Amino acid sequence: MNNAFLKSYQTLQEIFSEQSFSSIALNKSLSLCKPQEKALVTKLVYGVLDNDILLQYIISKYVKKLPKGAVLLFLKMGVYCLKELSIPVYAVVNDIAELAKLTGDKRQVGFVNATLKHISATISTFDDYPTDFAENLSVRYSYPLWAVKKVIKDYGKEVAEQIISFKPQNATTMRFVGNLDCQQLSQEYGVKLTPTIFDDAFVVEGKLPQLDSNCTIQSLSSMAISRICAGFVKSSFLDCCSAPGGKGIYLKQLCPHVDVTCCDIHPHRVGLINSYASRMNTAVTTKVADMTQLDESMVSKFDTVLCDVPCSGFGVLDNRPDIKLFRQNEDISSLMKLQQAILQNCSNYVAVGGHLVYSTCTIFYNENGQNIKKFLNANPNFQLSAISLPQFPLANGQGTYQFLPHKDGIQGFYVAVLQRIS
Ligand SMILES: C[S@@+](CC[C@H](N)C(=O)[O-])C[C@H]1O[C@@H](n2cnc3c(N)ncnc32)[C@H](O)[C@@H]1O
Repeated sequence: MNNAFLKSYQTLQEIFSEQSFSSIALNKSLSLCKPQEKALVTKLVYGVLDNDILLQYIISKYVKKLPKGAVLLFLKMGVYCLKELSIPVYAVVNDIAELAKLTGDKRQVGFVNATLKHISATISTFDDYPTDFAENLSVRYSYPLWAVKKVIKDYGKEVAEQIISFKPQNATTMRFVGNLDCQQLSQEYGVKLTPTIFDDAFVVEGKLPQLDSNCTIQSLSSMAISRICAGFVKSSFLDCCSAPGGKGIYLKQLCPHVDVTCCDIHPHRVGLINSYASRMNTAVTTKVADMTQLDESMVSKFDTVLCDVPCSGFGVLDNRPDIKLFRQNEDISSLMKLQQAILQNCSNYVAVGGHLVYSTCTIFYNENGQNIKKFLNANPNFQLSAISLPQFPLANGQGTYQFLPHKDGIQGFYVAVLQRIS
């Protein structure tokens, strides 16, 4: 049996059945793979997840009744290989049929074999897409239909298509601390580094270096939020939803004189902040706290407060293809309630004259502009304040800004800066 196919199937099976984080399930599998199998397993797992709706749609056009469970997954893997990978057709059909023997049902093996042969004959010219605009986008770009409709409502059809069709390059960025000579760092860490918009971050190509106190993986969008906060902070900073600590710890490194407090509701996630802070040789205060509940001891204690709230994650689909599979439209209203509760409660912790920064890694108006509008209506003692981020001239000087990958060349995230005026 093709071991890379078997490992890919087992990983996908775990992600689909347990709704696991794709990166965690994949890393577990890769640790059990031979070195030469890792690239194919990674490509196949991410490829099937990222193209799930399209693959299922194509299969539905070739069968009378859509199969379920393992058989559907074998077919998705097969169709992805036929469509996107340069593996000979006979090898795909044979190896996937071999995999189907795991069902222990000869009829299923025959069905998988015959269906893949049938699909392989015409897949290269397949063009039978839905005619409805939203359904068409949903299928072609494997984007859930409810989310397509939301993006169309928020941005209009033209921009919605640009947002949904955009395929970001899957680049890993690393942030370095200390002496930043790109050539020297490349040699020291044994990787190819390319400068980015931020002078302390580089795109890494090649095997990732061993992480130490001078180097960490961090997205440019996460760094941008800390840099915006660094533009306001004076002496005390509260990171309300902090785990695993990316933004709070970078803020501390940008502004070493500032007292940084990092909170999260989950004790094990506060543990992640502690270990990250210790690896980065950074001293921050950490606290387990439900930030929807008032803590009298923190009232008016901070000149800058960041609410990087839990969100639907539709701005970071490049890192998390599983979001497209498992997030439901119904989740948005409960997320909004939580986001509003955190923002409202944490506004109490901002000193008069200080700043409240609200951020998400999503692109939906409900979780972004609508929350800020509601907050400002209910809290006349806060007003929008200008974002300071010179690397992004379109955002710089605005009170709120929606970053979009196709337009800004960075992950989709939202930021609003509010000042407490009384
Ligand atoms: C978007 S993540 C934060 C990412 C983090 N700011 C970073 O840059 O590494 C949201 C975090 O909010 C936490 N959270 C969820 N509900 C919370 C609550 N009621 N109070 C405090 N933290 C909460 C989650 O555990 C999660 O770690």
